[in-house]
Amino acid sequence: MERKGPKKPGRLPTGTPRGIVEDAELFKDVMSRFPTGVTIVTGKDVSGAPVGFTANAVASVSLSPRLILVCADKASESLAVLLRTRSFAVSVLRAEDEEIAIRFSADVPDNRFLDLELRPTEGGPPVLERALAWMSCRVWKEFEAGDHVVLIGAVVDAGLGPEGQPLVFFRRAYGTIDATPRA
Ligand SMILES: Cc1cc2nc3c(=O)[nH]c(=O)nc-3n(C[C@H](O)[C@H](O)[C@H](O)COP(=O)(O)O)c2cc1C
Repeated sequence: MERKGPKKPGRLPTGTPRGIVEDAELFKDVMSRFPTGVTIVTGKDVSGAPVGFTANAVASVSLSPRLILVCADKASESLAVLLRTRSFAVSVLRAEDEEIAIRFSADVPDNRFLDLELRPTEGGPPVLERALAWMSCRVWKEFEAGDHVVLIGAVVDAGLGPEGQPLVFFRRAYGTIDATPRA
């Protein structure tokens, strides 16, 4: 006979705090309703070749000093380059650059930079010339967080591209917002 009692939690990965939401799909659905911008995080490997991937887990952290963060999947091939060179850069994508976001998130990292003009940054990896805005950073701190590594970057160079609308990721789809400043 089945014993009645408190429902046992399912198996959680080692080190997972108790009471944490077990349903990964629910977690993903919730986060999918949090609209974000879309960026390309770039690095430069030891041979000088650029690497990069699409990232929306990017946030401002501190004004003084100026710090931002990027959460990178431990499985990301670019992550090793960013950690080795202790630097990364972030290019904010425009509404019309959905194809670039798709290209830089594809499983095969070949030809990601094909036909893309790059802009060098002060002592950091290059950024996309066509970026809406960009920053390059020195890795200030990093720590493991579950299956990701949180990279905190001290901003060493930054700039604005021509005005435009941003690429937005919401409910697993690309879109935009009308970001025209109101008069
Ligand atoms: C809209 C979108 C946002 C993404 N955000 C992130 C992110 O913040 N961090 C991350 O590690 N991967 C993110 N990814 C997945 C990476 O772009 C993808 O795994 C890429 O292939 C990694 O490339 P790499 O292994 O060459 O570094 C995102 C993908 C998409 C489509």
